[in-house]
Amino acid sequence: MPPALATHELCKRYGDRVALDGVDLEVGPGELVGLLGPNGAGKSTLVKIACGLVHPSGGHAEVAGAPAGSPAARAALGYLAELFRFPGWCTADELLGLHQRLAGSPGASAERADLLELVGLSDAAGRRVEQLSKGMQQRLGIAQALVGQPAVVLLDEPTSALDPAGRRAVRGMLEELRRRGVAVLLNSHLLGEIEQVCDRVAIVARGRLVAEGTPGELGRPGGVEIETAAGTRSFSDAGREDVPALVAGLVGKGERIYAVRVVQGTLEDAYLRAIEEAQR
Ligand SMILES: Nc1ncnc2c1ncn2[C@@H]1O[C@H](COP(=O)(O)OP(=O)(O)O)[C@@H](O)[C@H]1O
Ligand SMILES: [Mg+2]
Repeated sequence: MPPALATHELCKRYGDRVALDGVDLEVGPGELVGLLGPNGAGKSTLVKIACGLVHPSGGHAEVAGAPAGSPAARAALGYLAELFRFPGWCTADELLGLHQRLAGSPGASAERADLLELVGLSDAAGRRVEQLSKGMQQRLGIAQALVGQPAVVLLDEPTSALDPAGRRAVRGMLEELRRRGVAVLLNSHLLGEIEQVCDRVAIVARGRLVAEGTPGELGRPGGVEIETAAGTRSFSDAGREDVPALVAGLVGKGERIYAVRVVQGTLEDAYLRAIEEAQR
């Protein structure tokens, strides 16, 4: 199976402003990848190129093996734009119906009901967009991106208008998408969420990919802390694999152990480090 999304040496210039400067990124089938970076890093530009809305100045992008923007690529893709506005007069159910017609989805009312349930809007099916809160509209936007069972969805900051409960609900949705085998590229500033839900993280700064890996790989190990009767002892160079020997050594010396913690650097630490290095 080809990757859900692949970019090769992707470049984009708007006049003399460089938005993307040679990005190679791959999202595997069914993989959930978080795309992080400061404002203006080029995240939305990359997503728009994948949708065929923006033409690259160099390099190329493929969606499910087809050139970005081609009918085959568009058929494999769902998209929620960063700044979207649905017609206020249309109900949630009608909006999904409109997008079913646009996408040529044969899913009919069963698909609409399934998607509204997935995003927690079953009770709002007959309510007009203008009567929905911003958070509900954002969840409706996610449902809209999933019309027609795309193999890959691109969500550009889908949780920016959500309260903590709404964000948790989106996390649940993303986990459901993973169960359904849908690949997701998720732009977000909410590092905690990305860390909890994404298989892999790509960090862009100034149009370049500056770090990539699983959240665990990016968050460097920060040592081991062991609580003994004498207080907390830190072993800053140790990792998880050193814990049995460390504990055995301390117990051998007659120490009493109350707790052991393997300290892991957070994704936020890794992010800030990568951005700082890129600015130099
Ligand atoms: N249509 C456009 N015309 C000119 N410059 C643009 C346009 N879209 C984006 N840019 C510029 O390209 C850079 C990347 O923008 P964008 O992809 O929106 O970044 P991000 O989504 O990471 O915040 C920014 O400097 C932005 O000002
Ligand atoms: Mg953006």
